[in-house]
Amino acid sequence: MVPVAVVGAGYVGLVTAACLSELGHRVTCIEVDETKVIALGAGDLPIHEPGLRELVWKNARDGHLQFTGDYERTRYAESVFIAVPTPSGDDGSADLSYVLQAMDSLVPHVQPGTIIVIKSTVPVGTGDGIARLQSVLNARIEVVSNPEFLRQGTAVHDFLHPDRVVIGAESAEAVERVARIYASLEAPIIAVDRRSAELAKYTANALLATRISFMNEISHIAAAVNADIDDVARIVGMDRRIGPAFLRSGLGWGGSCFPKDVLALSSAASSHGCYTPILQAVYEVNQLQGKHAAELLLEAISGIDDPIVAILGLAFKPNTDDVRGSPALGIAQQLVEEGIIVRAHDPFALVNAGLVLPDVEYREDAYSALDGADAVLLATEWEEYYDLDWILVRESMRGKTVVDGRNALNGVLLNELGFLYRSFGRAAQTNGNGSAPHAGTIDASTLGGTMQTNGNGAAPYEAAFGSPPGVSEAVAE
Ligand code: UGA
Repeated sequence: MVPVAVVGAGYVGLVTAACLSELGHRVTCIEVDETKVIALGAGDLPIHEPGLRELVWKNARDGHLQFTGDYERTRYAESVFIAVPTPSGDDGSADLSYVLQAMDSLVPHVQPGTIIVIKSTVPVGTGDGIARLQSVLNARIEVVSNPEFLRQGTAVHDFLHPDRVVIGAESAEAVERVARIYASLEAPIIAVDRRSAELAKYTANALLATRISFMNEISHIAAAVNADIDDVARIVGMDRRIGPAFLRSGLGWGGSCFPKDVLALSSAASSHGCYTPILQAVYEVNQLQGKHAAELLLEAISGIDDPIVAILGLAFKPNTDDVRGSPALGIAQQLVEEGIIVRAHDPFALVNAGLVLPDVEYREDAYSALDGADAVLLATEWEEYYDLDWILVRESMRGKTVVDGRNALNGVLLNELGFLYRSFGRAAQTNGNGSAPHAGTIDASTLGGTMQTNGNGAAPYEAAFGSPPGVSEAVAE
């Protein structure tokens, strides 16, 4: 058992605190927002993340996890994890003010020899800069970079089953002490210098975003030449040098990480005199995806009086209530600005979306959002949308266009039901006359739902992309 503190009860901080307590450490989580501390003390979590509530409740009950606003409590910690936000500044660079505020608040309290572990995503050189601060030198604090690779929606699983634990440190003793905290995880420990650890985090996110943008670009070629992007992705993903993950086309990437990290990396590169045309293109292609979806919707409702568009899904991806950087919101806002009535549903993100976009009509169930709509956009591939009774939906909608922003639905079946199915590069399904041989026969039992199947009945994620992002893993946690 190592006594540790975690500064920040946001996504990464809360998951880190809960999981470290689950690993047997005594954890104090410091959060400056008093309302959040009170809520967490009462067992109320500010975010929806599968499996997290149970971990927080259990470890708080057993006295392994506490929440406080008092930095004095860091005095008892051998290591203090910094997990505060690093949002995009006006010029795209990472805003480090929360990290620096946290340092200022905790340095007067910690004991000499304490390790400060930076989990926040920070530009290369931040750890070195903090280590050189006079106050840090005086307090004889070690600074370690320990980037986090968890995904929202599967955060608990990812933290407890990492592919690797990266420890960027300048002394073998610091590596050993941080490695001890993770000793019970079955994961390789990768010890490197601080700068390489910091750059690896940005590189991982930027490379994942690049794969998606690249496939989105290819999806437009697929549409133009009447090829099928799913087949293309499946084929290239079977190449072991490439692998199947993050090749799924659609509205593109959102969230609180990829958009800010791609921008921050590009901005940091340019401040070091490096030219990054790939990063810029990755960002630009992503912007085009939302525009393309909006165009498809506008085309579908053109000439209709008082048109209504339904949007299914507002979270930036399934299994989270986070709408930050969600492509759905950008599209909804554009439609509202054009005077179109937008009715939206999401199983968990209605409240968060309402705070950002008050002019959308939010509906508690998907059928009610679809009732009377002229066109629908599937923006987040929540599992419940696969199970919709599309025969009923067809009867209740005024129009027939379905824009599948996640290439998740069974377009062949939807076309057969009388919808006009529009996708991102699934050409055979878009025009409705393709046999999409790999899609196999339509299982009568799925008539209520329209989840795309391959020949062996597996859902598209299983077929080409592994498990749906976290659904099964997260639930199993
Ligand atoms: C991402 C990284 O995957 C994590 O490793 C990292 O720790 C995290 O950022 C972070 O820096 O904190 P996250 O933003 O939670 O995690 O979500 P992802 O699962 O990576 O998805 C990002 C976006 O890409 C979503 O909008 C998703 O819909 C989209 N996506 C994903 C695609 O459009 N296609 C795909 O094939 C996969």
